[in-house]
Amino acid sequence: MLDPYKIREDFPILERKVHGRRIVYFDNAATTQKPRQVINAIKEFYEKYNANVHRGLHTLSQEASELYEKAHEVIAKFINAYSWEEVIFCFNTTDAMNIVAYAWGLKNLREGDIILSTVMDHHSTMLPWRNVAAIKGAVVKYINITDDGYLRYDQLEELINEKTRVVVFPIMSNVLGTINDVKKIVKIAHEVDAIVVADGAQSVPHMPTDVRDLGIDFLGFSGHKMLGPTGTGVLWGRRDRLEEMMPFKVGGDTIKDVTLEDVIWHDLPWRFEAGTPNIAGGIGLAEAAKYLMKIGMENVRNHEIELVTYTFKRFEEIGDEIAVYGPKNPNDRGGVISFNVKDLHHHTVGKTLDLLGIAVRTGMHCAHPLHYRLGLKGTVRASYYIYNTIEEIDYFIDALKRIINLREQLKTVPVEEVCTGT
Ligand SMILES: Cc1ncc(COP(=O)(O)O)c(C=O)c1O
Repeated sequence: MLDPYKIREDFPILERKVHGRRIVYFDNAATTQKPRQVINAIKEFYEKYNANVHRGLHTLSQEASELYEKAHEVIAKFINAYSWEEVIFCFNTTDAMNIVAYAWGLKNLREGDIILSTVMDHHSTMLPWRNVAAIKGAVVKYINITDDGYLRYDQLEELINEKTRVVVFPIMSNVLGTINDVKKIVKIAHEVDAIVVADGAQSVPHMPTDVRDLGIDFLGFSGHKMLGPTGTGVLWGRRDRLEEMMPFKVGGDTIKDVTLEDVIWHDLPWRFEAGTPNIAGGIGLAEAAKYLMKIGMENVRNHEIELVTYTFKRFEEIGDEIAVYGPKNPNDRGGVISFNVKDLHHHTVGKTLDLLGIAVRTGMHCAHPLHYRLGLKGTVRASYYIYNTIEEIDYFIDALKRIINLREQLKTVPVEEVCTGT
């Protein structure tokens, strides 16, 4: 089992105080905190090995190249890829999704082809395909959700046909927490030879991921949401699918040879890693994956189920003073809880929680179409990770009760004074 108190010792930032109180960090769906092991790996790289990769014969460059390649191997192991060569390092999930949309889509989509997306897609998976569809004359259609936050599989079956070339969806919704049935989607999509592009931004950091077992074609995820540095992300693709892509971002490192007439592209994955990569970041990301593998991803998942189950139980004390969105069953969802307090603006709730030392996210969480589907202008989102504790949830529930008690006073504070964001 996972011991969050022991884990917390590795995270210096969790000692920080905000507004005079020890921080309760519940904004893990946006980005996670970093353990000493990751911070030290980056420091060590800059202190001992810093050089550019794949360019130099000198010792530092050779060592840096070796470390950077090994980092790909660690990530391949983390997601059970067939080979490290299928692992493309990029900058975040958004980058991964843009690469696959443009590199696969521009080469393979034809006029009239259909791309199926979902209303629960994050903008970073929805918009790249929309742009590519506009260029190629393809059509994007959206699978709806049920009122309790599950994907409408019946609609997927209704909408899909032999013109469908791509099905793109989040494995876990960053708002509803819903965990989608990946294998079911893969089965339906592959029956018509559509490729399956899975957004793993919220799932890969929080549960075991086995790309072979899932049967998907592409997976994107962000290093910074799984204890790794910002500016790190991964696009994994099945080798035959990667071979179908044209290099999209091109330049240094993507080629074996260039003449004025021709170009011979590099082997995988370098063909898709243009220019000097985030070398230290990649090494830090591998350290993060090692840290998670040591804990065990099953343990990570079980810890979050426990935290969500406990939160829902404590929410019962608050009753209909708050509205919670997404599946009610903690086994069907991740550690992301979006809610609203009756008659209070989400920004007011978020800002007041901040004053009490609790960091949550407020707004539409880069999922505007989903909020419109739910008829909402925004939500407050608490999202958990390995270092969060039952004690912190108790403090959070007490804070919510205080907010509810102060509602009439809080209502008088203009929202613009609370927050200028959207
Ligand atoms: C489901 C989902 N997809 C994609 C992204 C985009 O991730 P990034 O900002 O790291 O590119 C996020 C970020 O919150 C997300 O939650």
